[in-house]
Amino acid sequence: MAARVIDGNAIAGRVREELAARVRRLRERSGVVPGLAVLLAGDDPASHVYVRNKQRACAQVGIASFRYDLPATVTTAELVDTIHALNGRDDVHGVLVQLPLPPQVGMRQVLESIEVAKDVDGFHLYNVGGLVVGEPVFPPCTPYGVLELLAHEGIGIAGRNVVVVGASNIVGKPLGLMMMHGDATVSICHAKTRDLAQFTRLAEILVVAAGVPGLVTAEMVQTGAVVIDVGINRVPGSSRVVGDVDFDGVRQKASYITPVPGGVGPMTVTMLLKNTVTSAERSCLRSGALKVPRWA
Ligand code: GUN
Repeated sequence: MAARVIDGNAIAGRVREELAARVRRLRERSGVVPGLAVLLAGDDPASHVYVRNKQRACAQVGIASFRYDLPATVTTAELVDTIHALNGRDDVHGVLVQLPLPPQVGMRQVLESIEVAKDVDGFHLYNVGGLVVGEPVFPPCTPYGVLELLAHEGIGIAGRNVVVVGASNIVGKPLGLMMMHGDATVSICHAKTRDLAQFTRLAEILVVAAGVPGLVTAEMVQTGAVVIDVGINRVPGSSRVVGDVDFDGVRQKASYITPVPGGVGPMTVTMLLKNTVTSAERSCLRSGALKVPRWA
């Protein structure tokens, strides 16, 4: 039987409606509008598309977005100065630096200059450390989106064999930690893994985030597995994107599968919105602009 296709656009839409309601409530009770600052350095075409999508998504739920376009020649100091100014602004609750940065920029120095309470991407080392002990200030958006998709489909992770293909700092490693905190048994595979299929076949939940089109084929997947494809690969000479999973083959064997596009992608942006709204709510609670009701 063919797998159920998880509709990331529909789930993202439902979460965004809930977020729009939280934004309205916050505005009514405190007068505060959540704000996200997005810094984009250089002219990587894909990054421009991602940033435009993030700004559109902000507008959809009522978050104010502030965009800073910096030249490809920007220095680390210039970026850090811009971030310090944003850290001090009351109308900015999230600061996001679009990656990758130009090669002359010290990425770690830039990310560490973001105020932890505004680190809605979850890339600051304090946040990364929080993730290790299960107490992130903000969970990183793509892994958070994967967990939200599973939760919406009613797929539990406790005690399940989870295999993550890809050990990046943005997806594979944080997702492995978050799955562990959900009591899954986790294996993380990467480019040096020998005989990838021996691991992927063990997976009850298989998450593929390798950036290799068509890497996972039907014979690498156990019957009834849940397959989540995080890959976004542009097809050369076309505007089409494909994932890391051979969708048509694997869907004949899996129980659930995410498509590309329309699976994990819309959830990543949605979780960024969620972190930004949460940040604004926390800021209002700290400042006293929002009172915790006595019955809460
Ligand atoms: N570049 C690719 N993915 C991401 C992401 O999730 N956040 C940021 N800031 N940059 C990225």
